[in-house]
Amino acid sequence: MASIRWKILLAFFLIVGLSLLLAATTLTGLVSDYLFDQRTRDDSIKTEKLALAAAPLFQSVSSNELNEMLEENAASMDGRLILIDNDGKIQYDTFQNLCGQRIRVDEALRVLAGNDTEAYGIHAPGRAVVEEMSGESGADYVAYSVHEMSGFQGRIGAALFVSRIQGLMDSLNSVRLQLLRIFAIIAVAALIVALFLSRVLTNPITAVSRTMRKMGKGDLSVRVPVRGSGELRELAENYNTMAAQLESLDKTRNQFVSNASHELKTPLATMKIMLESMIYQPDMPADVRADFMKDINHEIDRLTGIVTDLLVLTRMDNREEMKRGTVNMSELTQETVHLLTPAAEQNRQTLTEDIQPNLLLYGDRSKLSQILYNLMDNAIKYTPEDGTIHVSLKQENDCIIWRVKDNGIGIPTNDQEHIFERFYRVDKARGRETGGTGLGLSIVKQMVKMHDGTISVHSEPGKGSEFVVMFPQEGAAS
Ligand SMILES: Nc1ncnc2c1ncn2[C@@H]1O[C@H](COP(=O)(O)OP(=O)(O)O)[C@@H](O)[C@H]1O
Ligand SMILES: [Mg+2]
Repeated sequence: MASIRWKILLAFFLIVGLSLLLAATTLTGLVSDYLFDQRTRDDSIKTEKLALAAAPLFQSVSSNELNEMLEENAASMDGRLILIDNDGKIQYDTFQNLCGQRIRVDEALRVLAGNDTEAYGIHAPGRAVVEEMSGESGADYVAYSVHEMSGFQGRIGAALFVSRIQGLMDSLNSVRLQLLRIFAIIAVAALIVALFLSRVLTNPITAVSRTMRKMGKGDLSVRVPVRGSGELRELAENYNTMAAQLESLDKTRNQFVSNASHELKTPLATMKIMLESMIYQPDMPADVRADFMKDINHEIDRLTGIVTDLLVLTRMDNREEMKRGTVNMSELTQETVHLLTPAAEQNRQTLTEDIQPNLLLYGDRSKLSQILYNLMDNAIKYTPEDGTIHVSLKQENDCIIWRVKDNGIGIPTNDQEHIFERFYRVDKARGRETGGTGLGLSIVKQMVKMHDGTISVHSEPGKGSEFVVMFPQEGAAS
């Protein structure tokens, strides 16, 4: 389970995490830019106003008036106000303690140097200057806003407004915290969705592999639950189809083996009984003994027949290669009719033929001849004395067609669909009497299939049967 599931989770997490990170940095960036811009503008305006108001008083000698004005402004602006002369000496300080000292604030030095008329800077706590300017130890963030003061002869000094901006930083931090909380919630939600999704995606695969494991241990009846839609549903359905096929194959094979064993056991049991009677009755009359011997010989023939048919069938199951060639079907039909004429004569049956000359088919000669032989053999076997059997070979619409027709006992409708199954006989007792194995037609069907042909039966009990075999000429030739 480890791999696909964790890969999905990881991918999900990376995507969500990265986009959250990106969103967070952009958002806080925007917010802080906005807040700082606002503050800078406010402070600059205030400082400029102060500089304008202070300039005339700074030039006159009435320091009391200027002090009063500075105190008032410092209170309303909520910060420290400092006035510096052109030499960088602090003349007025609302905190008093820096009066007469040189200013060390970069922003003020820049304005005094004449580079700018105003300057603004934000400083993190820690540096000595910052501590000194904010007027307390362990001070926090401060902003310096400087504006030049000018008189009639140009610049006469600069006004410095030191404001604490912890409040600003606090609101920025609270925005950050808020964002963090929202993102944490989103991340948890994403995690839950990803867990669920990965489960939904991998569950069907896990189900299939679990089923496969069970099947591998030999239980062919297990199936995967078919759920959902799309590829995973298809996977489950295809797997089930395959499993069903395997199961039915397994069943057929088991049945075949048990049928075959049963078929082989019956003649063996019969022979054993007859042999035992001969052993335990040494004074058995010679003619009875001869009869027994004949019966045993007959059973051996049957056994040989069954084994031969079984071999033919299993060899075809192994998809033994077809020995293909151009077969003259007209000749082949003629030969087979010849071969079976004595058997028909023995039964005093009339065997007639209607063979279209020079019909060629690309196929396996011995298999084709076995098809016709088996069909004719059945016709002769299942037709009483004095019956007629008719064999025809025709070409119709690119098809070569064999018809084997008799006026024998026929096949009941219910049995017609089964006669091509292995070991199936309509009348078990009668079949054995006539030496049938029940394998003939299944061999025929298999061989017809190997030639891409079809076989069908039309029959009515008491009236007779007709077997029709069709071979596509083009298909088989390719
Ligand atoms: N021409 C036919 N007329 C009547 N029944 C037939 C005919 N051909 C086949 N059958 C029936 O189909 C069954 C299966 O035939 P087949 O597979 O050749 O086995 P088998 O001939 O060894 O009995 C036969 O047992 C018989 O009952
Ligand atoms: Mg047969």
